[in-house]
This record gives sequence, structure tokens and C-alpha cells, in this order.
Amino acid sequence: MKTTTEKFGVTPHQPSLWTRADALKVRADDPTTTQPLVSADFPVLNNDVFIWDTMPLRDLDGNVTSVDGWSVIFTLTADRHPNDPAYLDEDGNYDILRDWNDRHGRAKMYYWFSRTGKNWEFGGRVMAEGVSPTAREWAGTPILLNDRGEVDLYYTAVTPGATIVKVRGRVVTTEHGVSMVGFEKVKPLFEADGKMYQTEAQNAFWGFRDPWPFRDPKDGKLYMLFEGNVAGERGSHKVGEAEIGDVPPGYEDVGNSRFQTACVGIAVARDADGDDWEMLPPLLTAVGVNDQTERPHFVFQDGKYYLFTISHTFTYADGVTGPDGVYGFVADSLFGPYVPLNGSGLVLGNPSSQPFQTYSHYVMPNGLVTSFIDSVPTDATGTQIRVGGTEAPTVGMKIKGQQTFVVGEYDYGYIPPMLDVTLK
Ligand code: FRU
Repeated sequence: MKTTTEKFGVTPHQPSLWTRADALKVRADDPTTTQPLVSADFPVLNNDVFIWDTMPLRDLDGNVTSVDGWSVIFTLTADRHPNDPAYLDEDGNYDILRDWNDRHGRAKMYYWFSRTGKNWEFGGRVMAEGVSPTAREWAGTPILLNDRGEVDLYYTAVTPGATIVKVRGRVVTTEHGVSMVGFEKVKPLFEADGKMYQTEAQNAFWGFRDPWPFRDPKDGKLYMLFEGNVAGERGSHKVGEAEIGDVPPGYEDVGNSRFQTACVGIAVARDADGDDWEMLPPLLTAVGVNDQTERPHFVFQDGKYYLFTISHTFTYADGVTGPDGVYGFVADSLFGPYVPLNGSGLVLGNPSSQPFQTYSHYVMPNGLVTSFIDSVPTDATGTQIRVGGTEAPTVGMKIKGQQTFVVGEYDYGYIPPMLDVTLK
């Protein structure tokens, strides 16, 4: 990819590459990078809805923030249909797996609140029906802007298309709970351009979503990460020496890996409010390695930029593989170069005995990692499963230089605040 011309005082950069050689270092079941087993007798947050991607309320610096002592999370959410004839199997039993697998098509943004950073109480939908311009409300980030309780919710409006949007509202607290008011006018921000980021016209399986705005701790400017694929017609990408990396003899064959073209995108705001954005070339590309680098986010620690992103086994390219989980990269400056954490990029993967136990990990600056339960085997062969759609146990992790270590496990959905804002 060509170097960009300088924009808004942003230094031109080359995307960093997650190479096939890096990915060959991925080792499933390394205890320092594997999530502890999730037991099949997990509690369910709410039996009326499935929840998955969890988005803690935070400030622009990444700190998880409570308001007046109330913790708040947003979740992608969909109704469960235990009594709907459309979700009964041949024997007349509720086919929860089919219901769960269909959830993306009816995903809506909901919120929850808690005094203890766990045992979340149901808040409700953030936007009323009809406010969001498309069928699906996909992942993003709620940002607490100030002590008046104003919140900018950045998210992805999907089907038709995929547009990064934002909607402003306000969080209101009482002694008894939290409500969300406003969230009535959705502002489209940008879509894939086909030059840096792949469009639907170039690839029906394109990804463009999951905005994560932040203030750069070094230059103070407002930026946004997002998930993308590298622009170009599907099948036209080249997996050359740079993408392959330094592989051992016998590992030069890249098979059909040109179809896997994930990248972590970045945009810079032209204004202080984040209403006007300019896309920049990707921070990181995974051409020939993986097709999805989802929900990218940062932890800023020790003057370094720790870039995390979630990915799947099924999105890996021919000849490389790894568990579902969160992967990470580190750099000394925002625009890189980024190197894979732990050599391979793998930070926290599912154990191979329970490959789908959790997903959508979110690493918080306090080292806690939240995720949701997808499905957990209930018998030794793994043919029987229990579907989750609820919060997973939180994992404690230490980040040290270019390495990470699993160091603890906490309660289901434990997301404690890092700071509290008293509303005026
Ligand atoms: C991750 C994800 C996000 C997307 C959402 C759709 O679990 O794939 O990238 O916004 O789920 O349901």
C-alpha cells in the first residue's frame, strides 16, 4: 500500500504486517495465553435475551467509567425465541443454537447497570425502534463526554451497507438505577472507500465496523480504530514475501490465502467533536493470514500502544491457524511499527477442548479482559453443547513489554470502574 500524503498534521505511515511467519508461532493451549475453562453450569444474565459484544462505558482515554457510582455497559442484544414455532426442531423442542446463530440479523444496542461492576441489571434499548437507519445495530463504543452525562455512542449501522455512525444522548442516574435519554438522531460518519478499505462491491464478505474512538495520549488528537479489509476485488490481493515473512523451508506455499485480507483501520477527526472524519491507511494488515480483525482497541501503558483485536479460527488463511480469541500488537508510537505480542500475536485464546467457549474479548487498561460465552460442551465428546449468550468470567492479565500473561479469573461479567464521575 502507498504511503499517504500528510493529512491534518498526521505523519504518513506504512501499515504494519501480521505475517504468516508470525502466525506460525501461534500455540493453542499455552497456559499463559489460554482462557481458563468455562464451566457448562454458568449463570445466564437474562433468559429473555441473548447478549454478546460488551462495550463498557468509558472516557476518550480508555478508562472504564462509572457515573454517580453506577457502572454501565452496552451490549449487542437479541430476543430469545423459546416459544416461537419458527425455532422449534423436528421434535418440537426449542432449537436454541439456530436462534443464537441467527442473532446478528436482529442485533440491537441495549444497556445494563450495576453498583458492583457485576450482576448487571437490565436497562433496555438505547435507541427506540426506528431511530437507527438500518436493520442491525452492530458493535461500537459508548463514550462519556463530560460531567453533564453526555454520551456519544459510536456504532455500526448494517444492512443495507455498513456505515460507521454516532448518536448522542445522556446518561441519567437516580438512587434506583440508570436511564438513557436522547439517542434520537443518528449521524452517519463514513463508509469503506474502496481505495484503502474494501467495499461490499469489491467483496460480498467484506467487513467494515466496530468503531473505537480515542484520544492519542501523545499528540492529544482524536482518532478512531475500526475493523476493515484491505481494498481491492476479492481474489486480487497478493501474498508476497512481505506478507509471508521469514518462514522455514517448506512453508512457502500460500494456497488460497489471498482471500484473507483483514486490517485494523484508523481515522482522524477533523474537528474537536468527532463529527467529521478522515480515513487513513490501515495501522495493521493481515493479508494472507486472517480475514477478520474485529473490535480493535487500545491499552495505553508504559508509553506504549497495545493494540488488541479479536479473531476466529475459521477466518484464518490456508496453512495457518489459531484459536478464537484476542490477539495483540505493540508499538512505541501510534502509527507503528507494530510487532505481535508473544511473538505470534495470540494473547488470550480458547482452550482446544472448548474452542467456542468465549468470544469478543475486550482488554481494559486495568488488565481485566471481558468476553461473552458462546457455547460450552456438556459431554466429553463435545457433541452436546450449552449455548451462552451471556457474560463470561472475567480474566486477569498482565502486560509486560512484548509479552502477556494470564494471572487470574474473576466473576462472570466483572467490569469494575476505573474512575467515577459525579454528574452535575
Ligand atoms: C464480533 C462481531 C462484531 C460485530 C458483531 C455483529 O462478535 O462480529 O465485529 O459488530 O459481532 O454481531
